[in-house]
Amino acid sequence: MLYQIFNSFLKQTDPEVAHEFAIKFLKKKIIPFDLFKLKTDNTLKSKVFGINFQNPIGLAAGFDKNAEVYNSIYKLGFAFSEVGTITPKPQDGNPKPRVFRLNSDNAIINSLGFPNEGMERVYERIKNNPKQGVLGINIGPNKENATKEDDYLLCIKKFYQQADYITINISSPNTPNLRNLHDIKKITDLINLLHNFKKNIKENKAIIFKLSPNLDNSEIDALSEIFLEKKIDGLVLTNTTVVGKELLLDINKNKEGGLSGYPLNLISNQVIKKFYKNFKGKIPIIGAGGVSDGFSAYEKIKCGANLLQLYTAIVFRGPYVASRINKELMNLIRKDGLKNISDAVGVNAN
Ligand SMILES: Cc1cc2nc3c(=O)[nH]c(=O)nc-3n(C[C@H](O)[C@H](O)[C@H](O)COP(=O)(O)O)c2cc1C
Repeated sequence: MLYQIFNSFLKQTDPEVAHEFAIKFLKKKIIPFDLFKLKTDNTLKSKVFGINFQNPIGLAAGFDKNAEVYNSIYKLGFAFSEVGTITPKPQDGNPKPRVFRLNSDNAIINSLGFPNEGMERVYERIKNNPKQGVLGINIGPNKENATKEDDYLLCIKKFYQQADYITINISSPNTPNLRNLHDIKKITDLINLLHNFKKNIKENKAIIFKLSPNLDNSEIDALSEIFLEKKIDGLVLTNTTVVGKELLLDINKNKEGGLSGYPLNLISNQVIKKFYKNFKGKIPIIGAGGVSDGFSAYEKIKCGANLLQLYTAIVFRGPYVASRINKELMNLIRKDGLKNISDAVGVNAN
């Protein structure tokens, strides 16, 4: 109820201002640890990338860009938090306004372009604030840097010890040419670079790729082949979409940028299903795109996601959304007579 009143105020506010307000609030560290903690048995627990997850719900990249509030995020019931996207040097991102709420569609369009404080500053911040949950660090190249592979390597070297896993973002539609890295030759070069880096490091941490939802079946097949051959650690499926805006209702539907939230749900599910079928369970998938309740979360798992992330649902359903989803998910799994969430992964992929 309180959030509904607050939300109607937020709806009138510029989305970026509202987001800054939310970050300031979460930085105050006033959420008691147990408030949203789920009294859970083993139903939602799983081990992915060699990491134990208390439940499958994580915060997607983009919300905590500069790693300021991840310890508050765990307190809201999220099992993991992915900070970033972080680039080697600080950058301002694209000109404002660059975030639009589509209230009629439960969606957001953003063209932020990785505004962030840069890897050095973020590294120091994480160093001074030990994580109390699973921390993913999402990295990307600076806008003006043509040799993007080098930027990824700089960030990987910086964050490899701090992160539980690292996500390589090649799929933001708001950095020119970034999505060209889905090209087979380019992504093969990038994977080889990572393998070379890992050869000289003792500790093995997952380095996963975050892909665009705007891939056709033949592109997914070609990518799957190379991912299987090179044995990559995992995928985040998916980032925002630039396709599918014509069916939306909201007056903001033609704004430039990537679309997230409800309209992305089915689009990302199709991509997850196709990759899962090709992988036959060999490569873990974090599903993202329109997860907003127990039902949409369960659907994504049944399409082949081992874990889930969300961003837009926090804006439309409030800060307790992860805790609610977990409760709903636990009931759905039990109703189906399953013992653990991993028994549901991919059951609808065929
Ligand atoms: C305002 C906004 C900013 C985002 N920034 C990033 C980002 O910096 N890096 C990234 O990998 N994804 C970013 N995303 C994409 C989300 O991480 C997620 O993949 C996508 O929004 C789909 O999930 P959702 O429908 O639950 O929001 C952003 C999304 C939104 C709405």
